[in-house]
Amino acid sequence: MKLAFIGIGVMGGPMAGHLAKAGHSVTVYNRSRAKVQGWAAQYQGTAACSSCATARAQGLHFLDAPVSGGQSGAEQGILTVMVGGDEEPYARAEPVIRHFARAVTLMGPAGSGQKTKMVNQICVAGVIQGLAEGLAFALHAGLDARRAVDVISKGAATSWQMENRGKTMVDDKFDFGFALDWMRKDLRICAETARATGADLTVTNMIDGFYAEIQKMGGGRWDTSSLIRRIRKV
Ligand SMILES: NC(=O)c1ccc[n+]([C@@H]2O[C@H](COP(=O)([O-])OP(=O)(O)OC[C@H]3O[C@@H](n4cnc5c(N)ncnc54)[C@H](OP(=O)(O)O)[C@@H]3O)[C@@H](O)[C@H]2O)c1
Repeated sequence: MKLAFIGIGVMGGPMAGHLAKAGHSVTVYNRSRAKVQGWAAQYQGTAACSSCATARAQGLHFLDAPVSGGQSGAEQGILTVMVGGDEEPYARAEPVIRHFARAVTLMGPAGSGQKTKMVNQICVAGVIQGLAEGLAFALHAGLDARRAVDVISKGAATSWQMENRGKTMVDDKFDFGFALDWMRKDLRICAETARATGADLTVTNMIDGFYAEIQKMGGGRWDTSSLIRRIRKV
């Protein structure tokens, strides 16, 4: 298929790469030109100078399809994709999305993918804060926190965040992954939707405030697991 991919950062770059490697004719656009040149050096594809499209005039369809699975999920092509839109365009897009995903689900009409991603982000925020408090507690208590991650990740407390971020949190490494600037963007959307629907996001809103504190520490581009930086004293 002839495909265009707009925005080739941490996530978009490898996702567009999987499409090119699968043999599709891929044209990429990115606001900063340097990333386009870097991408074109790594994959077969065409660079575009503009993202303007005349989609509606050509009778093209729209699907919202946010992803979960992080930088490693994008690089390995094993993202989870939650889609909103009509069934016919979904049926055409699904095999293409499969090139960078291991799970693709049509959730309902346009917007349903975004709402499902909001559920994901609400759950992730709570899990990371719990993990941050647990690991900071382990360090303050004089435990070998890396060993604690090894053992408890085999039990009921396990999570993607524990398995993929537990040890880097102990090592105080956050220069990768999902930038908390983007998490705050997502949590703002969650808060707006909760206000409109009457849902209670007491804890999520509190954690958003913690992320605001880390932004003030200069951590806007740090991975979201950096919540531990607020509370770790040893
Ligand atoms: N990283 C993750 O683990 C993860 C996981 C799931 C979902 N996501 C979502 O995926 C999206 C991209 O995240 P990322 O981690 O790939 O971020 P990133 O590396 O910072 O890439 C962001 C991309 O968006 C473009 N962009 C940002 N602001 C723009 C603007 N005002 N005008 C035009 N282009 C703009 C950037 O262009 P420039 O290169 O010019 O800045 C870049 O191509 C976000 O919505 C994020 O919430 C990320």
